[in-house]
Amino acid sequence: MNKKLKFAIVGTGLRGCGCFGNLLKNRNDCVIQAMCDKNPKRVRFTAAKYGNPAVYTNLSEMLEKEKLDAVIVTTPDAFHEECAVTVLNHGVNVLIDKPLATTVQGCRNIIAASEKSGKVAMIGFNLRHSPVLLKLKEIIDEGVIGRIILAENREFYDGGRTYMARWNGMKSSSGGLWIHKGSHDFDIFNWLLGFPKPRKVTAFAGMSVFRPDGFPFPLEKGVKPGPACSVCHYARNGVCKDAFRYSDPEWGPEAQSCDGYVKDSCMYLSDLSVHDNGMAMVEYENGVRVSHLECFVTSRSDRLYTIVGTLGEAVLSLSEWKITVFKRWTGEKITYEIPQTQGTHGGADPGLLESFIEAVRGDSVNTSTVEQGLLSTAIGQAAELSRAEERVVFMNELL
Ligand SMILES: NC(=O)c1ccc[n+]([C@@H]2O[C@H](COP(=O)([O-])OP(=O)(O)OC[C@H]3O[C@@H](n4cnc5c(N)ncnc54)[C@H](O)[C@@H]3O)[C@@H](O)[C@H]2O)c1
Repeated sequence: MNKKLKFAIVGTGLRGCGCFGNLLKNRNDCVIQAMCDKNPKRVRFTAAKYGNPAVYTNLSEMLEKEKLDAVIVTTPDAFHEECAVTVLNHGVNVLIDKPLATTVQGCRNIIAASEKSGKVAMIGFNLRHSPVLLKLKEIIDEGVIGRIILAENREFYDGGRTYMARWNGMKSSSGGLWIHKGSHDFDIFNWLLGFPKPRKVTAFAGMSVFRPDGFPFPLEKGVKPGPACSVCHYARNGVCKDAFRYSDPEWGPEAQSCDGYVKDSCMYLSDLSVHDNGMAMVEYENGVRVSHLECFVTSRSDRLYTIVGTLGEAVLSLSEWKITVFKRWTGEKITYEIPQTQGTHGGADPGLLESFIEAVRGDSVNTSTVEQGLLSTAIGQAAELSRAEERVVFMNELL
């Protein structure tokens, strides 16, 4: 058996530990050697749940003291660049969760560090490991629906609670939701289409609901809502259906006192600079046009796709585990049932980690490269620019 790979996680929050920490804990070919978070209390509380690995608040110190095979970066997006470059400069393999960075320049800096180090630098595009999307790619690659000319996806994410109540809602931390969230979807289009060059992007987006005049219940005279669900009168009384509380100590008052990070801020009152719904369109140099709708005011979480080719259309919803192909001219309808797999994000996360481990061991090549990460951030950045300046953005402005 191969020697166990020594991992560290930087940014020990929901994604770092709730996903990767749990996956690593359950593997017998890897060990969580260390954890790093800028919040000293959070990292200690969290480490206690993962066998008490060494804990650090300084990434360079961790990299100097521990002999690591790989680091997973799951800090808020705005710190991906700094953390990834530091890890690569120490000659360690790195898996960076999406988006690669919040700007094209940040992505370029990571690419430069990865070229210099020669280490594996993988971007965490977990959706590419969704069994449903893998099947869709196979259908497209086999030519079942011919040459793709048009594609659309709609993402409905019941994400108000997570996105609007914390750092994701601030452009300074997430780059804006076309980058933070849309980068997933833009990457799926790029990947399905074989990475054609995007030519131009346009987007409309806005904040329609999560704002001070958006409370979905009447406010009582003299009783202010917020500032966080944990102390809000309307949350306590069950009037606010959006209220959410975190019971784990890593999000409680002790950890909060270190950095002031409150995870359950009132999402109607927070100082948000992102959109809660919008639509973006991309046209590629090969003439393919795609559109992506994202909405965070929904009753469910799902992604729906329509891919139109010269020989037919493929239609799917990720939650239904099936793809329907409608053939042109014959009217034939083919249904592909996809066996359900275990794991977060519809079984995609275990596949992502597996592919990183294989690349680190040299058993397979890195198929989610930092160059591809740059491409999806660039489209997201163009969409943010288009929204802000109300114009079509040509990609040669950014690439
Ligand atoms: N691929 C996916 O499906 C998916 C899903 C959720 C989140 N994510 C990504 O995972 C990352 C983390 O998101 P989350 O929801 O876990 O956030 P989170 O707020 O739960 O956790 C972030 C952690 O990073 C720590 N941190 C902040 N700045 C740091 C720094 N400079 N150095 C070290 N630690 C730092 C915070 O203290 C916190 O513990 C984000 O990049 C997000 O985009 C990806």
